Amino acid sequence: MANKQFDVIVIGGGPGGYVAAIRAAQLGFNVACIDEWKNGKGGPALGGTCTNIGCIPSKALLQSSEHFEHAGKHFADHGIKVEGLGLDIDKMLGRKDAVVKQNNDGITYLFKKNKITFFHGRGAFAKASGAGYELKVTGAAEETIEGKHIIVATGSNPRALPGADFDEESILSNDGALRIPSVPKKLGLIGSGVIGLEMGSVWRRLGSEVTVLEALPTFLGAVDEQIAKEAHKAFVKQGLKIELGVKVGEVKSGKKGVTVAWTNAKGEAQTLEVDKLIVSIGRVPNTIGLNPEAVGLKLDERGAILVDDECRTSLPNVWAIGDVVRGPMLAHKAEEEGVAVAERIAGQHGHVNFNTIPWVIYTSPEIAWVGQTEQQLKAEGRAYKAGTFPFLANGRARALGDTTGMVKFLADATTDEILGVHIVGPMASELISEAVVAMEFKASAEDIARICHAHPSLSEATKEAALAVDKRTLNF
Ligand code: FAD
Ligand code: NAI
Repeated sequence: MANKQFDVIVIGGGPGGYVAAIRAAQLGFNVACIDEWKNGKGGPALGGTCTNIGCIPSKALLQSSEHFEHAGKHFADHGIKVEGLGLDIDKMLGRKDAVVKQNNDGITYLFKKNKITFFHGRGAFAKASGAGYELKVTGAAEETIEGKHIIVATGSNPRALPGADFDEESILSNDGALRIPSVPKKLGLIGSGVIGLEMGSVWRRLGSEVTVLEALPTFLGAVDEQIAKEAHKAFVKQGLKIELGVKVGEVKSGKKGVTVAWTNAKGEAQTLEVDKLIVSIGRVPNTIGLNPEAVGLKLDERGAILVDDECRTSLPNVWAIGDVVRGPMLAHKAEEEGVAVAERIAGQHGHVNFNTIPWVIYTSPEIAWVGQTEQQLKAEGRAYKAGTFPFLANGRARALGDTTGMVKFLADATTDEILGVHIVGPMASELISEAVVAMEFKASAEDIARICHAHPSLSEATKEAALAVDKRTLNF
């Protein structure tokens, strides 16, 4: 018999889990959350991959490295002289760690505020019980607890290349990539996906010579082709070496660095010698130590917990959300699922619209999109109209000194309903929200074109791209 009983127990304190716990507590449930993440001192560090070795620290380093690049390369354009520019990498990494800690502490505070019981340790299914399920907690906290509803939010882990395990010294996952102690002269990246481009940008800006080896023949295949082309051009101009259509062979790690044997798109054998190698070839759902077998919780062929559209698993009152289930591995997707599940447990109609989940790649230029790409619409045979507007013709972008890229609208040829919005350029991560709201409200391109946007602002490029759908831009 478990000594503590809860209405809802959440396993995992990442963005999916901690938000689910907060929403369930708001709805009046007695909630517990189990999370095993340890900070450098062995204490708890709520926030999961996202807060500890993902979204937050990567954005902190992207910001610091961008400041460095601006100071070295762009301040002069503004008439600002910088002499003796230098890098204190310890301080930069220390700042990043402090930003992470602020976020860890913020979640701890939110748990207290919402009266959520926190267990620092690993949660594993023990057995189905009268009231629900018994979970065994091991680690700093050691006990058996019982919950009527269980929400599994155990996240994902980086996928390793076969035969090249992560040692986080020479062969790095996102974890090691965020704490390289000195700028490597030569840095290799396997995979030109989201992590590859973000981490490649950080270390290139800080001075590394970066080579990215990508298996697919197309660059950023999931991104609208026109946007991906523009981004590729910008990254190559910045100095990222991107090799597409490669086949990665043997990876050897020694005292002097890492050697990667690879074949280029023409089938020619090549060797890449680097000081550090970041492997970013996707992530795998994490159920390590969860003991799903104890209760017969079903996984799919990828090892993800099998769920329906509403995050119900194969077991009654067991739910799963975030990276450990199907769908995009994004923090905000995990959060939305967490809120929706808590509301469903309360008998409400939780809802997640997969068609309006935005994507952002925080490089410079940033890449952001929502909805369908032009190639998807073509493949579907859907009649559409496209409108683009370049930042080159936007006053605010000129004032910023950052005119790379464009905003692109795709709208239904007959109804004018917005089907997709794609942005490459400054602050794309912020600009995309307007498009998400518009699509949630089933707006037409004309709706955006008729809304007053502040001048001068980057958002005017959004309005102009909407006008471009009807071939009536005002400033281009
Ligand atoms: P996680 O954040 O992985 O959290 C799972 C938690 O569960 C962890 O704390 C883990 O320790 C704990 N856990 C696992 N098993 C157990 C167990 N049995 N018992 C107890 N605890 C357990 N997404 C974005 O949307 N924007 C970004 O900018 C972004 N940047 C990223 C950058 C990098 C470098 C990486 C790697 C990822 C990034 N992501 C980003 C993706 C994002 O981090 C994930 O989509 C998100 O963290 C998923 O949330 P989650 O709650 O499902 O899982
Ligand atoms: P990814 O799926 O974005 O990219 C992996 C890339 O590696 C692909 O282009 C793939 O073709 C390539 N690849 C796979 N196997 C390969 C091989 N053997 N050799 C060479 N290339 C190979 O995965 P990534 O970058 O690891 O990121 C994982 C996930 O984390 C992302 O999909 C995203 O969901 C999340 N993330 C989100 C961020 C954001 O929202 N800004 C930032 C970073 C990560």
